[in-house]
Amino acid sequence: MMFAAQPIVSNSKPGLYDELAQQARGLLHGESSLIANAANFAALVWHALPELNWCGFYLYDGRELVVGPFQGRPACVRIALGRGVCGLAAQSRETQVVRDVNAFSDHIACDAASQSEIVVPLIQRDGSLLGVWDVDSPRPARFDDEDRAGMEALCAVFMESLD
Ligand code: SME
Repeated sequence: MMFAAQPIVSNSKPGLYDELAQQARGLLHGESSLIANAANFAALVWHALPELNWCGFYLYDGRELVVGPFQGRPACVRIALGRGVCGLAAQSRETQVVRDVNAFSDHIACDAASQSEIVVPLIQRDGSLLGVWDVDSPRPARFDDEDRAGMEALCAVFMESLD
């Protein structure tokens, strides 16, 4: 079945994330392949949210984070737990919102255009780490608490699709 992404009509951030979560549910429905759903999820968000220069997954291989499906420029392949914003989100298991990546001492710059970043940890039902969802913007302070809530809700839709 073809999935036709609908134009987002909401003009509030929470409304936009609600619409996007609904679209993600439709897009991922009936499929539980990790790679397929991760790839489609990244493409959906990339085309729906303004001011992004990278969005995608880092998947935990049992030792470190390894880049997975994404949109944007080629990225760093492996990130150790605890390193960079991604490694911190994975280790702390808490969403990291970085308003200015230049002020974050351990930021790993894959693309010099990135100015702000949000990273959501992806925890499976059994408590194990699947990886992280990483979104970068060329605009400083692009992400706030509404993005944190919205991205966490979106990631919950993604995680449910894998059950
Ligand atoms: N900036 C991230 C690395 C991944 S890329 O931005 C795609 C970090 O510090 O973890």
